[in-house]
Amino acid sequence: LFGFKTNKVSGYFDAIDPSKEDKLILPKGYKYDIVAAYGDVINSKGDTFGFNNDFTVYFPINGSNENGLLWVNHEYSSDIFVQGAKKDGKYTPEQIDKMLYVQGGSVIEVYRDTDGVWKLKKDSSFNRRITGKTPFELRGPAKGTAAVKNATTVQGTFANCSGGMTLWNTVLSCEENFEGTSADAGLEPTHYGWVIEVDPFDPNFTDRKHTALGRFNHENTAMGLSKDGRVVVYMGDDKKDAGVYKYISNGKYDPNPAVGKANTKLLEEGTLYVADMKKGKWIALTIDAVKKVVEDAKFKVPAVLSVMGHTKEKLTAMFQTQADVLVNTHEAAMLLGGTPTDRPEDIEISPFDNTFWVAHTNNDSHGNIHGHITRFFEKNSDLGAMEFDFEIFAAGGRQSGFSAPDNLTFDSNGNLWTVTDMSSSSMNKGVFTEFMNNGMFVIPTVGPNKGEAMQFASAPLDAEMTGPWFTPDERTLFLAVQHPGENTTDASKPTSMWPHRSGDTMPRPAVVAITGFTFMM
Ligand code: FEO
Ligand code: CA
Ligand code: CA
Ligand code: CA
Repeated sequence: LFGFKTNKVSGYFDAIDPSKEDKLILPKGYKYDIVAAYGDVINSKGDTFGFNNDFTVYFPINGSNENGLLWVNHEYSSDIFVQGAKKDGKYTPEQIDKMLYVQGGSVIEVYRDTDGVWKLKKDSSFNRRITGKTPFELRGPAKGTAAVKNATTVQGTFANCSGGMTLWNTVLSCEENFEGTSADAGLEPTHYGWVIEVDPFDPNFTDRKHTALGRFNHENTAMGLSKDGRVVVYMGDDKKDAGVYKYISNGKYDPNPAVGKANTKLLEEGTLYVADMKKGKWIALTIDAVKKVVEDAKFKVPAVLSVMGHTKEKLTAMFQTQADVLVNTHEAAMLLGGTPTDRPEDIEISPFDNTFWVAHTNNDSHGNIHGHITRFFEKNSDLGAMEFDFEIFAAGGRQSGFSAPDNLTFDSNGNLWTVTDMSSSSMNKGVFTEFMNNGMFVIPTVGPNKGEAMQFASAPLDAEMTGPWFTPDERTLFLAVQHPGENTTDASKPTSMWPHRSGDTMPRPAVVAITGFTFMM
């Protein structure tokens, strides 16, 4: 390979070294543009870009790789940089308003100008915010049931971590660590912890929460089709000792463009399964099965639930209807024999062979300090299969050079890209010292370097990089830089000042567009 030249971000690159600098560092031949940062005004109404950007999805406009809508999740807020600290253990209504406003999502139109620089199109009529106050309709079996306090519409979305794109061009965004905000804001907890659906192109599409996909600490969704054409959605529950899930719709996906978004109905009727990794089987989560377990005279509360304070009496009372199974998914899954795993974060379906890949970020209570990436093989490569096996594809640690794999994405060369999420309070010390700041790694899944991680990016201080998303031509990689300077305790002395914009007095989470200019091999 000589004289090889590519503008694809997913082309060849010289791996970088880990770094402790307060910079977003890329291999030579690559640059980044700040597309939007916290607080930037995004439309004529004066709406502003939210805090702690996470998942991103690029939706081409008229098939363009240089003009599209970007959906961005805003995962959580910050006392020091946003709403200020609690007074007497409580936030004021104004502080709660701020906290709810900066979470949720943003829709922004972005374009690449004639100089090759990615920018926010400020006057775009598409630009809008979804916040912790936007009304959402509940859909699916738990809607209007006692399990959700009879609600059919609920207030807002927050804790939006990762997500996924549907086959019908809408976005799914996942409510992950919702407990803090719902408690601080005095909101009903059963209204959060769902997968939401929004159409970036259509503000009149009913924003919705899909109860059929269960309620837990949702990391992401990865959507594909079974061999017989039903929609399959893989999902991680990001907590220690939690399950890997898949949902299979009852009906079949209709690719006819005239049907389009009406396919969303497929997310309302179907079956939710949890992985039993001992038996290599998917277990259907049904109320009948759960009742049979808890009502058995010999029933003993499994350890994974007793540590949470669950008793037989509590669990018996918890499960009366199928809606209870969807609202208390983790408990139902563990009762039925779902395997507790080490913080299942992002999941991706390989576009090459229908295997699916799970980032198990870490689990210090099991001594899994650096995490691993697991590859699952569905029987007959059918996403609708009821049996599977699995193996560990790559393990974090000194050998691979990464720790705490989180979001995953594939490129068309068969490389798996992963970003790491060592917590900002633990990085650069102890067992994490030599990994330095969080990074982005490229791991070939085919070819001679299969399984060898190469570092592509290094994050600013305290930050992690999230939500990597390629344009269809892979010439641009969108990436969210989340929580730079998060360990600041004195606002006048932030630990990071990234992205170092003139006039700024605080660090700002921001979404960047990474492009390669020329690269010689
Ligand atoms: Fe928000 Fe599981 O990362
Ligand atoms: Ca994550
Ligand atoms: Ca994480
Ligand atoms: Ca995070």
